[in-house]
Amino acid sequence: MTKKLFVKTYGCQMNVYDSARMADVLAPLGYGPGDSPEDADMVILNTCHIREKASEKVFSELGRLRQIKTEKDGGLIIAVAGCVAQAEGEEILRRAPFVDIVLGPQTYHRLPEMVAQASRAALANGNGGAVLDTEFPIEPKFDHLPEPRADGPAAFLSVQEGCDKFCTFCVVPYTRGGEYSRPSQAILDEAKKLVDQGVVEITLLGQNVNAWHGDDGKSFGWLIRQLAKLDGLERIRFTTSHPRDMDDDLIDAHGEVKKLMPFLHLPVQAGSNRMLEAMNRRHDRDFYFGLVDKLRAARPDLALSSDFIVGFPGETDADFADTLDLVRRVGFVNTYSFKYSARPGTPAAIMPNQVDEAVKEARLAQLMDLLQEQTNHFNQNCLGMEMAVVLDRQGKYPGQLIGRSPYMQPVHVDNVAHLAGHLVNVRISEIHPRSLKGEIIEAERMRA
Ligand code: 5AD
Ligand code: SF4
Repeated sequence: MTKKLFVKTYGCQMNVYDSARMADVLAPLGYGPGDSPEDADMVILNTCHIREKASEKVFSELGRLRQIKTEKDGGLIIAVAGCVAQAEGEEILRRAPFVDIVLGPQTYHRLPEMVAQASRAALANGNGGAVLDTEFPIEPKFDHLPEPRADGPAAFLSVQEGCDKFCTFCVVPYTRGGEYSRPSQAILDEAKKLVDQGVVEITLLGQNVNAWHGDDGKSFGWLIRQLAKLDGLERIRFTTSHPRDMDDDLIDAHGEVKKLMPFLHLPVQAGSNRMLEAMNRRHDRDFYFGLVDKLRAARPDLALSSDFIVGFPGETDADFADTLDLVRRVGFVNTYSFKYSARPGTPAAIMPNQVDEAVKEARLAQLMDLLQEQTNHFNQNCLGMEMAVVLDRQGKYPGQLIGRSPYMQPVHVDNVAHLAGHLVNVRISEIHPRSLKGEIIEAERMRA
């Protein structure tokens, strides 16, 4: 009998990738996908520690799982993975002793062992004995993972992990460890295997993806050019990049590599030099403007997105005005903004002049209004445009599919059930608040 695995993913795309790989690792043990915790034999919460709210969600979800486990008479393995597990492993076991396995982002290739150990412990004493594995092992987990299984026409491929930048607000360097680049050959092999399974779009992932460098000093731009040579691969994206690692070769690649999509997530976080310095971002606003100019010179139709933090300790009205000014000067699409949230162990958490919650709230609302206006304006300009979209999801209505435009906008298309998974050309016919509507104009570019 196959057992059912339910994975709930919080946070970034890196976690989405890790969740898929954990499912791959557990498949040989007989675990197939389950629809809910209620019908599962094992649940993994793949957690995010980046902001306070994200971590708190984990503990409330664990309360719910405890009940389900009791109803199943203990017949449910509960694992907590990801960055909360890495940062607060001991705390989880103290607050939620019914959890069977706690594992960090660097040890999930050892999951089969952990499951066996947890099951043995459960047999021995009836109520389990938790397994905790939050090491940063010497052996890179990537060498011990089974081959990736494609799930549709678009796939993630993790190329880089960890971060050495130490922005003063951020937990990533502590939860994910230092920068690690996977060897180029392993990446190219994985990409080829995905393409052989029908993948047409690959998003390269890393906390600092453009800090990737090859064993012999090869640059990230080189890697993109190599991937672009793969027949059958139509689209390349990458996220998340850091302005300091945006070198000229990578900028040129945006102009030269047709398969590289004209959408770039390049977080700036704030627009005031004082805040950028306090955040330890290692660049000022003029550096960012300079990059944007170079990128747009290389690829005039490039759309930019960013992350912003409002209410960083010491942020004044004038600093915030600089952020609004930067946003107006650059023009962004689909941008994320957050209220600063103090994370234990980070330098900013103990900085003086923490900003009032009400002030953060007001600044966030103002920033989000401006960003939404820019996104709406960008979307309006797409009316009548021709775009290629990868139809990778079911829509709300029968026969409707949803795809992603080159600029990451969701585009829904009616009466195309037979084109699921294909790359098609559409003309944008309607602009909705959160999506666009497209009509098929050409289906020759479809892949069988
Ligand atoms: N508070 C608020 N936002 C944060 N981010 C990272 N750490 C914090 C924090 N302590 C945001 C940054 C980052 C995104 C992934 O999350 O904007 O780019
Ligand atoms: Fe965090 Fe800064 Fe590293 Fe991004 S660059 S992961 S924000 S420390």
